[in-house]
Amino acid sequence: DGTAQGSKVKDMSLAEFGRLEINLAEVEMPGLMASREEFGPSKPLAGARVMGSLHMTVQTAVLIETLQALGADLRWCSCNIFSTQDHAAAAVVAAGTSKVFAWKGETLEEYWWCTEQALTWPDGEGPDIIVDDGGDATLLIHKGYEFEQAFEKDGSLPCPSTTTNEELKIVYRIIAESIQKDPKRFQKMVARLVGVSEETTTGVHRLKEMAKQGKLLFPAINVNDCVTKSKFDNIYGCRHSLTDGIMRATDVMIAGKKALVAGYGDVGKGSVQALKAAGAIVYVTEIDPICALQAYMEGVEVVLLEDVVDKVDIFITTTGNRDIIMAEHMAKMKNNAIVGNIGHFDNEIDMAGLLSNPEIKRQNIKPQVDRFIFPDGHGVIVLAEGRLLNLGCATGHPSFVMSCSFTNQVLAQLELWNNRANGKYGKDVYLLPKHLDEKVALLHLGVLGAKLTKLTPVQSEYLGIATEGPFKPDTYRY
Ligand code: NAI
Repeated sequence: DGTAQGSKVKDMSLAEFGRLEINLAEVEMPGLMASREEFGPSKPLAGARVMGSLHMTVQTAVLIETLQALGADLRWCSCNIFSTQDHAAAAVVAAGTSKVFAWKGETLEEYWWCTEQALTWPDGEGPDIIVDDGGDATLLIHKGYEFEQAFEKDGSLPCPSTTTNEELKIVYRIIAESIQKDPKRFQKMVARLVGVSEETTTGVHRLKEMAKQGKLLFPAINVNDCVTKSKFDNIYGCRHSLTDGIMRATDVMIAGKKALVAGYGDVGKGSVQALKAAGAIVYVTEIDPICALQAYMEGVEVVLLEDVVDKVDIFITTTGNRDIIMAEHMAKMKNNAIVGNIGHFDNEIDMAGLLSNPEIKRQNIKPQVDRFIFPDGHGVIVLAEGRLLNLGCATGHPSFVMSCSFTNQVLAQLELWNNRANGKYGKDVYLLPKHLDEKVALLHLGVLGAKLTKLTPVQSEYLGIATEGPFKPDTYRY
């Protein structure tokens, strides 16, 4: 029975296993454990309702229980249909305080149901603060608010048939039903909301677009662009979990194969490192001349997808952009070429083009591994239905790197809640100050046995840098 104490997860009998893995993860997450020690006793988040929409993994369980130790009242869902680790979800529920709505292999319908459940407390009201990853919780609230305003003006309800996007159809229907029950639900939710802290590049991109258009309804902290997030999680996290996902899904020998990585940003750089280290011959595609030049400095050739599409064995998208590998590309690939995405959304790969073409047959090999067979008989192996393969086919990033990301999340949540009444944050997207970024790094150095050199007073004066930091200007790029 997966339903327990007002939560919904796959299987509560997995709770003990989940707890054992959470115990192991805690040792590898020194930043989160230090946050519990520093802030736990004063319960700074007491009275705060925190909603999270972020991959419900073992590492996220340690984040949830840290926010709980700081006094928060939490409801959680996953931000991807395949990323939940069911034993982690069960363990959080079994501990008895936080509510979780997440399981591996949700339908899209179930995914949005879970998001709505996590946003709704038993008294019908919403959260005070949100931890978002990719911006789906933020999107639901903004769309709900917008449609409620339209309904007030002319009685119109969102109409699913006005969009061709299957997922938006579901969102529109949920909002239409919500308006019929309570036409002010999302407006009340926005009135209560103190802000959101956003985990990933794609979610930050969405927030900045809304802020630019003057449509952002509450303050947002961009956690992704903390140095100790994007320059660690996006790079070294993906370096760990990309090949893990490819190997668990296909068991193919990577050495000697030709691999193409679309996008050489942070995720692309980590992905290329991993594939090179596994012995692959790696190519990159890029739109940005700076990133393309960076690829050459690492000995990686920058090519056009069209020029190598029939030679490459493993294709990985990391762009955060849409329409990167289309069905017509896959039609030209080698037999059993592997196609996977590690960017946030599944629109990097033309899944719609594969699924809507009756001439292309789908052969399911195992969960999250499908072979799409083209009329000429060749097949292409698509991982995790085009969704992020490191979380769909493996277990995502390891605990240590997630501790860096999530310690920033804890600091962002505290920053939003502590400043809820003083107007420090408006309806815009903000970064955390650099001294906190340096603090997060410091919290992770001790267990590694690092010995940091101290500036002497003379050196400190010579450089014009205080002995306790910040050590770099905001323009420094690391
Ligand atoms: P980024 O902005 O640093 O890198 C993306 C790169 O793709 C840029 O250099 C851009 O120029 C390039 N690009 C854009 N359109 C392109 C095209 N048509 N062809 C080739 N290259 C193109 O972003 P970052 O931080 O690397 O994130 C990438 C994606 O990965 C985002 O969706 C982000 O949310 C996601 N992400 C996923 C993680 C995971 O665990 N799966 C972890 C962290 C981020």
